[in-house]
Amino acid sequence: MDFSLSEEHQMIRQAARDFAQNELLPGVIERDETQTFPKEQIKKLGELGFLGMMTDPKYNGSGMDTLSYVIAMEELSKVDASASVVVSVNNSLVCWGLETFGNEEQKQKYLTRLASGEVIGAFCLSEPEAGSDATSQKTTAIDKGDHYILNGTKNWITNGGTADIYLVIAQTDKEKGHKGINALIVEKGMEGFEIGPKENKLGIRGSDTHSLIFNDVKVPKENRIGEDGFGFKFAMKTLSGGRIGIAAQALGIAAGAYDLALKYSKQRKAFGTEIANHQAIAFKLADMHTQIEAARHLVYKAAWEKDKGKNYDLSGAMAKLYASQVAMDVTVEAVQIHGGNGYVKDYHVERLMRDAKITQIYEGTSEIQKIVISRSILRN
Ligand code: CAA
Repeated sequence: MDFSLSEEHQMIRQAARDFAQNELLPGVIERDETQTFPKEQIKKLGELGFLGMMTDPKYNGSGMDTLSYVIAMEELSKVDASASVVVSVNNSLVCWGLETFGNEEQKQKYLTRLASGEVIGAFCLSEPEAGSDATSQKTTAIDKGDHYILNGTKNWITNGGTADIYLVIAQTDKEKGHKGINALIVEKGMEGFEIGPKENKLGIRGSDTHSLIFNDVKVPKENRIGEDGFGFKFAMKTLSGGRIGIAAQALGIAAGAYDLALKYSKQRKAFGTEIANHQAIAFKLADMHTQIEAARHLVYKAAWEKDKGKNYDLSGAMAKLYASQVAMDVTVEAVQIHGGNGYVKDYHVERLMRDAKITQIYEGTSEIQKIVISRSILRN
């Protein structure tokens, strides 16, 4: 067993870290306040190959492994979780889903543009009444021979307004339950496809979250991913990998807040010495450091399992469950260590604390991760 990173992985970490410092940090507070999507930054991330990290170079991807992807997610999320969620959704839900389950024509037509960052994608599963209970899809895709007619509403869709390509999960045959669900590739601009209002969120305010409305949208049958009825499994398998990406995001948010708290505690003085010299603060830092290291091991292990072709449903769920709790705990403590300064925007930690919360909610809430984990351990 070897816990050290290869030279290539260290280079990826450095590249992502430099990008975060030079391109994401400037303006991150303003983008959060004004809910501004980091358009230019995402374009540059695409040019550098961060939007199709795991995709085969023959489809314009970077051909890297999952460990490279989580390292990049960790570094970007230390500074800007609104930008990193775009990287996560595009990489693990959209590009990976299309590359693994799409046909050659779909890969040439859509994946090549998504992996290069020419366009970005969105993954559309959640509905007003089907968040955790994902089999209860109300959106319908009725089979009309050579096309489907899509009707319904999707909620809280990351990249909702900025994406060009949407992977939409919908019910074709209600009688068949989850086996009657399909995944369709929908393009922006298709007749009857409307983008609903942008959500005003607690955190990741720079990310672009919308509801989507489908009114008799005609989607050609060649846009269905996989066989008829494969849509629910497509969503579950894709989300299993997505959860590793969000776990890495949570890890990065925690590590970013910890770095700031450590630096601050060595500068800020109280009772005649730097506050890090007070055991009350030093012990908080010790706990934070330990929790982050434990989360990192879970996240990297899940990525390693995926790269080795092992089943990663359990490790991905554990990584997300734990890392998102660590993100909450560590960011709250980082605010506490900053005292009054932690409560104002200039010091970044209050934003990281708000951003942390979503990692316990999207791509399966913590309660859903516990369902996945408990079913897995009870089955074996
Ligand atoms: N891989 C492959 N197949 C899977 C699977 C997986 N990981 N998980 C379940 N399945 C299969 C099951 O085997 C079963 O198939 P069979 O009947 O053929 O055996 C089928 O799917 C149904 O499974 P369940 O009976 O377990 O289904 P359930 O109704 O009990 O729900 C659940 C399971 C785990 C709770 C699931 O509904 C779930 O994951 N819910 C959360 C959804 C979610 O993560 N939403 C996030 C939205 S996307 C997002 O947030 C993106 C973003 O923008 C950031």
